[in-house]
Amino acid sequence: MPMVRITNVRKAYATGFEALKGVSLDIHEGEILALLGPNGAGKTTLISTICGITQPTSGTITVGGHDVVTAYRGARSLVGLVPQEINLEPFERVMNTVRFSRGLFGKPKDDALLERILRQLSLWDKRDNKIMELSGGMKRRVLIAKALAHEPRVLFLDEPTAGVDVELRRDMWDIVAGLKQSGVTIILTTHYIEEAEAIADRIGVINAGEILLVEEKTALMTRLGQKELRIELHEPVTALPTALADRGLRIEEDGQVLVYTYDTSKDRTGIATLIRDISEAGLVLRDLQTRQNSLEDIFVGLVTKQEDAA
Ligand SMILES: Nc1ncnc2c1ncn2[C@@H]1O[C@H](COP(=O)(O)OP(=O)(O)OP(=O)(O)O)[C@@H](O)[C@H]1O
Ligand SMILES: [Mg+2]
Repeated sequence: MPMVRITNVRKAYATGFEALKGVSLDIHEGEILALLGPNGAGKTTLISTICGITQPTSGTITVGGHDVVTAYRGARSLVGLVPQEINLEPFERVMNTVRFSRGLFGKPKDDALLERILRQLSLWDKRDNKIMELSGGMKRRVLIAKALAHEPRVLFLDEPTAGVDVELRRDMWDIVAGLKQSGVTIILTTHYIEEAEAIADRIGVINAGEILLVEEKTALMTRLGQKELRIELHEPVTALPTALADRGLRIEEDGQVLVYTYDTSKDRTGIATLIRDISEAGLVLRDLQTRQNSLEDIFVGLVTKQEDAA
């Protein structure tokens, strides 16, 4: 049984706008899943429906086997949510803020636990400060402390590093890695491809209310190991010479460019023989270029394919 199971979830807001268009997704215990998608893709909506802040129009979601609508309390007690927007009481003190969050879930007082959480987030020496006295990055960490205060099994981080400097971003990644170590399942949303690359076990791409892809990061990285060799010819060709027919070449730019895709992890790339065969076939090279596939290419490719289909 996955930790979170999302089945055919649709969400239409009161305006009639459909922000989720049939999302299905399993999230496994102990993994870090990064949801990657542009503004308005539906990331916050999806997280909000899992956490029971808003209800799905149709479809079902369970957390730890509890339905988020019909068994709301059981489901809610298992999840911690770090919201995208900072929503803290400016005059409240850090320790009290976190204590209050734990109390809201009806958990017994445990200041030793809260101390561990605050220390882990480098907030311990700020425990008696008012929220308004903290920097933006510190406030973000208070949000995480609040979300952890009731010992959730699943933590949702909605854009934890938006508007955060490089150093704090790395701190945040370390914090997330530490939480995973302590057994927490983590789902985070981000616009940053390199963030997903850096910390996720699996990466999901969401756009316009649909999940376009969910894949192990390592499998994605293998796809990223593909490189393209672009061979510019002196004279354009209308067709490939028969000697080159089975090399999997693509003709581009009105015959001016031949594109060869190869795997950088393979022993032999086949480039040397390809170049030899090209000149033996009487074609003259003008220029060569190689291009590495990136997660960004895959992402852009998926999103534009979806736009073309729409
Ligand atoms: N309360 C609401 N009423 C009507 N439409 C909404 C509401 N909340 C969100 N939307 C719309 O639903 C879509 C998805 O919004 P959502 O906040 O889930 O996107 P997101 O992926 O989190 O974007 P961002 O990266 O900007 O945070 C958007 O088109 C948004 O305008
Ligand atoms: Mg959002």
